[in-house]
Amino acid sequence: MTIKSAEEESVSNARSFLFIGCNPRSQNLCKQEIEQAYPALSPSFSRPGFLTYKVNQPLADRFELSLTFARTFGWSLQQSQPESASQLVSEIETATAQLGATHVHVWARDWVDHSLEEGSESEQAIETLLVELRKQKSKIKINAVTRADERVLDVIWVDSERWWLGWHIAGSIPQRWPGGVPPIQAPESMISRAYLKTREALLWSGIPINKGTVCAEIGSAPGGSCQRLLELGAKVIAIDPADLASTISKHADVTHLKMRGRDVPHRALSQVTWLLADSNVAPTHTLDTVEELVSGKQTHFRGLLLTLKFTDPKMAREIDVFIERIKSWGFRFVKTRQLAYGRQEICVMALKQKSARRFSS
Ligand SMILES: C[S@@+](CC[C@H](N)C(=O)[O-])C[C@H]1O[C@@H](n2cnc3c(N)ncnc32)[C@H](O)[C@@H]1O
Repeated sequence: MTIKSAEEESVSNARSFLFIGCNPRSQNLCKQEIEQAYPALSPSFSRPGFLTYKVNQPLADRFELSLTFARTFGWSLQQSQPESASQLVSEIETATAQLGATHVHVWARDWVDHSLEEGSESEQAIETLLVELRKQKSKIKINAVTRADERVLDVIWVDSERWWLGWHIAGSIPQRWPGGVPPIQAPESMISRAYLKTREALLWSGIPINKGTVCAEIGSAPGGSCQRLLELGAKVIAIDPADLASTISKHADVTHLKMRGRDVPHRALSQVTWLLADSNVAPTHTLDTVEELVSGKQTHFRGLLLTLKFTDPKMAREIDVFIERIKSWGFRFVKTRQLAYGRQEICVMALKQKSARRFSS
């Protein structure tokens, strides 16, 4: 893997450190991945969920890192140890003016799965800062999703004494979300957390689900993921030996195949465009089941959205093997990401044609 530069000409010598945000529980996996993929980066400061690296080769202002375990990344500016929230606000105002940033993203390195951890120190510190920031009558948008190519000042809570300032130009979709976490409001009657995960996976992958799109999901009970697909107007084939929540099983657009993935007759999936999998089994088991289904003559999936559960963190080393295996089935465009709303697992998007997505980046 190489570092891609989108604006070759605007390389600046002042850019000497970058920051990377990740799930704090995946810090070591993220470090290992960076070491292998980008040996020219030297580790510098690190705390769980927040890493900085010295850049030893020229890199454009806008850069992309291809990493499964990084949520977001950008240029590191400076540490801040403010005595008050208002002091930090004036540092933020100075930095946004210097950078020409239109957005401020305030986030904490200790966000584990989504949003702020309730009642945590970082939550309180961020709330205090946001109140102070919103008092300013500035046009800078705070914790909003950006559009492509907008400049963002990142304000990262590190610990009780320290914040970090950084910045980035929003390129890929997750770069547009504060801290690389899409702001998603859980519906009141959320059936399972998989609702949030599938929502994030669809945003990240760009897989288009419209009215009437036919999807199948292996491992669909109790039905949070189906809930999101149904909201978008999909017709869903739910494959799971376990029961679905009644609101899902009674839905007119749901067919429940109460069986294991490998027992599903191929003809039952002949109209399916997108195949999802979220079974709580080892990655090889999920891939064996999916391979059996994609290799049939009666199935014609345009793409796959698979959760691979890591029962052992060592499995992360096999990601490249999993990707090659999926590519060998004819899905040439494959991307992986540890989602913010997922757990010890990664999400794999695989497409036959890259153009099947909603966007082209
Ligand atoms: C994490 S839960 C799935 C959550 C679900 N996607 C949702 O949206 O609520 C894992 C599910 O995988 C199912 N499962 C395990 N092995 C399976 C298999 N071989 N085929 C189909 N489902 C399986 C389990 O019964 C369980 O309901």
